[in-house]
Amino acid sequence: MHHDNLEALATECASCKKCPLGDTRTNLVFGTGNPHADLMFVGEAPGEQEDLSGVPFVGRAGQLLDKYLYAVDIERKDVYIANILKCRPPKNRDPLPAEEDACMDYLREQVKLIRPKIIVCLGRISAMRLIKEDFKISKEHGAWFEKGGYLMTAVFHPAALLRDPRRKEDMLEDMKRIKAKLDELGATES
Ligand code: URA
Repeated sequence: MHHDNLEALATECASCKKCPLGDTRTNLVFGTGNPHADLMFVGEAPGEQEDLSGVPFVGRAGQLLDKYLYAVDIERKDVYIANILKCRPPKNRDPLPAEEDACMDYLREQVKLIRPKIIVCLGRISAMRLIKEDFKISKEHGAWFEKGGYLMTAVFHPAALLRDPRRKEDMLEDMKRIKAKLDELGATES
């Protein structure tokens, strides 16, 4: 799979038949944001609002993510946001391993085209898939990992913060650290 740009990749993704989720979803949720973003967020899978709009992280969890971006002075238009799965699993059930396997090539291609400096996994499902299989979100959130030439970290999923607000302080600290790292990398660029 090779594509010159994200649009070509999205077009292929739109007619994907590698798993059955394309048959039940409303819209493909490919990803949105700056195609040359230094910072990329990867969530789990589209929910209902995302499925209806075709845009990742626009429901309640997405609105909470927006608040954290605002709090650390990162503009949503400057980052790229995608998910492991591009189609909504029925009733928001957890992605099946086979669905993740089927969808991962699209994410890999997205990352290759965007070439972000930092990849932030939103939640444990994304971290277990992208950082390491035995990732422990409660212990390892906010820690830095290097994989395949990318700097990676994971934070609590905003939907988990809605269920358990006690983790919100940790989330703010992690987001501040991500912003500081981004500034640091930007400063060493030129
Ligand atoms: N949760 C996710 O993991 N991704 C979305 O796009 C929305 C909610």
